[in-house]
Amino acid sequence: MSNLHIVEHPLIAHKLTLIRDKTTGVKEFREAVSEIAMLLCYEATRDLPLKEIEIETPVAVTKSKVISGKKLAIVPILRAGIGMVDGILNLVPAAKVGHIGLYRDPETTRPVEYYCKLPEDIASREVIILDPMLATGGSAVAAIRLLKEKGVEHIKMMNIIAAPEGAALVEATYPDVEIYCAAMDERLNEHAYIVPGLGDAGDRLFGTK
Ligand code: PRP
Ligand code: URA
Repeated sequence: MSNLHIVEHPLIAHKLTLIRDKTTGVKEFREAVSEIAMLLCYEATRDLPLKEIEIETPVAVTKSKVISGKKLAIVPILRAGIGMVDGILNLVPAAKVGHIGLYRDPETTRPVEYYCKLPEDIASREVIILDPMLATGGSAVAAIRLLKEKGVEHIKMMNIIAAPEGAALVEATYPDVEIYCAAMDERLNEHAYIVPGLGDAGDRLFGTK
């Protein structure tokens, strides 16, 4: 799958173990999700365009690089995507933040949209969608469709754990969208939960179960 980037790094591997472990509490879970998002952001922003400017160090005048081109927006999918926002903003503090609210209907596992608030200039920004879990891919495809309908041209998807089924659906539906994730798990179970996964990301982040 050409648009899939599985980011392998010892720090990510260690923090993944923490969030998979069912004995990890809410505080540690939240911190590790935020830190993994920051580490994934390093990789997902590798192709940001640069331009050279002239600056003066205390010693000499020199040319040095700064980020140029389109500005970034991040769009967490509520609820669980919220857990990744701070990690990204630590590295890209000027990014604007939009929100898309989707929940999976427990009967059908199909996504239901309940909220959408995006920056006014979203169409002119590079957008990274944030969601810790890419399971069936239904939520990801719905979020990408919504952003494309608003005119967004450059979209990346950042997940912590993906299932082969979800990654394949995104790739087949939107082959231009690159996916950055920390792990590709084995499969989905009969309730469309990722195996081995980490359970319900929203509940574990917000302590709702
Ligand atoms: C989870 C997760 C994704 C979605 C993934 O959200 O955060 O948004 O499921 O599943 P999919 O790939 O099969 O669509 P959930 O619907 O549980 O909502 P929540 O974040 O509010 O708990
Ligand atoms: N949503 C989650 O939070 N976890 C899964 O395993 C699948 C969907």
